[in-house]
Amino acid sequence: MKCLIAIVFLVGICHVRTEDVFLPDYIQPCNLKEEEFTNCLKQQIEDSLPYFSKGIPELGVPSVDPVNLDDITIDGNGLKLKFNKAQLHGLSQTMLTKLKVDIGQEDERFNLGIIANLSLTAKYNADGKILILPIKGDGDAVITCKNIEVEINSKLSHIKSSKGVHFKLVTPNYKYDIQSTTFEFENLFNGNKQLADATLQFANENWRQLMDDLAPPVVKQIVKTIVKTINKFFSKVTINRIVNGYKQTS
Ligand SMILES: *[C@@H]1O[C@H](CO)[C@@H](O)[C@H](O)[C@H]1NC(C)=O
Repeated sequence: MKCLIAIVFLVGICHVRTEDVFLPDYIQPCNLKEEEFTNCLKQQIEDSLPYFSKGIPELGVPSVDPVNLDDITIDGNGLKLKFNKAQLHGLSQTMLTKLKVDIGQEDERFNLGIIANLSLTAKYNADGKILILPIKGDGDAVITCKNIEVEINSKLSHIKSSKGVHFKLVTPNYKYDIQSTTFEFENLFNGNKQLADATLQFANENWRQLMDDLAPPVVKQIVKTIVKTINKFFSKVTINRIVNGYKQTS
């Protein structure tokens, strides 16, 4: 009997937990008044970024540092370059550069800009040429991007759940800019240091050409991660929990 009561009690707790989603105390609703709203939201995001980046287990939001990336393959212009077991590091040190949220009207949009120093670690396999210099080898690679800036512009749509109405970012557009990049490839040319140094130096001097091919698939995954993280959060909290005075228009 005691056991049964305990089970009923535990089930009760779990039930309450899943029904009434725990909102971390660093997240406070903002009042939907023009000026005030954006400032409040900006403050909220800045305050909660360190938590988001480490993940919020209570809301099922995973950590974004590091992020496991899908394999990346470049095959063109005489170069075959493949990365696997790639991980992106540094998203938890992100800073906000732009925030514009238009809600409470017909066309609701979410515009977010971030800047960070990011590095990618991976196993690489290279064969071919970088512009004019040969490159061949496989081993560990580290690619470091200084001040990579990503701006995401997305439509906000509404999703209904049993708890109420939620925001969701859909069809996001994005653009990016990188201040500089350095490449480190271990074990180029079977460890021939002279050849390796020459090629690496050349790659680092011409980083922009290399990144023209390399950055798009990586940035795409960065954006995917950010959008997924925000949407995970939105899926757990109704609009009314995060915006005071919100009236649905559609
Ligand atoms: C990136 O690192 C540089 C130093 O190398 C620093 O000046 C800059 O503020 C950093 N950027 C960000 C977004 O943290």
